[in-house]
Amino acid sequence: MQTDNGLTAWEQNAAFWDDYMGEESNYFHRDLVRPHTEELLGVQKEDLILDIACGNGNFSKRMAEQGARVVAFDYSPKMVELAEKRRHMVLDRVTFHVCDAADEKAVLALRQERPFDKAVSNMALMDIYEIAPLFHAVYELLKPDGCFIFSMHHPCFTYPNEDYFTSCIDKGEAVAGQPVLQNYYHRPMEEVLGTAFAAGFIMDRFYEVPFPGQKVPIIIIVRLRKR
Ligand SMILES: C[S@@+](CC[C@H](N)C(=O)[O-])C[C@H]1O[C@@H](n2cnc3c(N)ncnc32)[C@H](O)[C@@H]1O
Repeated sequence: MQTDNGLTAWEQNAAFWDDYMGEESNYFHRDLVRPHTEELLGVQKEDLILDIACGNGNFSKRMAEQGARVVAFDYSPKMVELAEKRRHMVLDRVTFHVCDAADEKAVLALRQERPFDKAVSNMALMDIYEIAPLFHAVYELLKPDGCFIFSMHHPCFTYPNEDYFTSCIDKGEAVAGQPVLQNYYHRPMEEVLGTAFAAGFIMDRFYEVPFPGQKVPIIIIVRLRKR
C-alpha cells in the first residue's frame, strides 16, 4: 500500500514556514532544539555535514558560519527554492538539493568526494513517511565513527490516540495558522530507535527536552553513531 508522503501539504506551507522561521528561526528551535543539538554535533571547521529535511536552511546556515561544508536537502522544491534565496550569503559553503529522505537511492546520490563527518535532522523524523531507507542511506554515507543527531517530537508524549504502540498518520500543525494541516507519522520509540539500530547505528547520547518549567518533555534529541 502506498503511504501518503505528505509532500502536497509542505509545498503549500513552504512560503508560510519560511516567513515564520525567517532569518533566525523561532523560539522553539533556538531555545529547545539548538543548544543540545549543537553540543552533540560539535561542529569543527571543514566538517562535511548532511542536513536532512532542512526546511528554509536556518541550521545549514548556522553550521556554515561555524566553518562546516553542508549538503542540505528537503523534498519540497518550493522549500528548497526559498532556502537558496534566503541563504544566498552562504551558498559557497552550503548546497541545497531537492531529495526525498524516504528514497534511499536518492539520498545515496548526495554522496560527495569523501564520506560525511556528521548528519543532522532537526524536528523532521515525525514528518517523514518512511524512515528505514533514510537510516540505511545515512549509515552508508557517514565515515566510520561518524554521527547522526536528530530531534523529533517525543513519541511517548505526543501520540494522537490511546494506541501508543500502533504507528499511524495524524494531521497537525507545525505552526499555528499554517495554510494546511500536514501529516505526522507517529511511531513508538522502539520503532524509531529499533530502525536506527537495525541499520547498524548505536546510540551514544540522548536528551528529553521540556518547555521551560514543564514536567513532561516535548522533544527528544538523539545522537547515533556509526559502529
Ligand atoms: C518541521 S520542518 C523542519 C525543518 C528544519 N529541519 C528546521 O528545523 O527548521 C520539517 C521539514 O521536513 C521536510 N520533509 C518532510 N518529509 C520529508 C521527506 N520525505 N524528505 C525530505 N524532507 C522532508 C518538510 O518539507 C519540512 O521542510
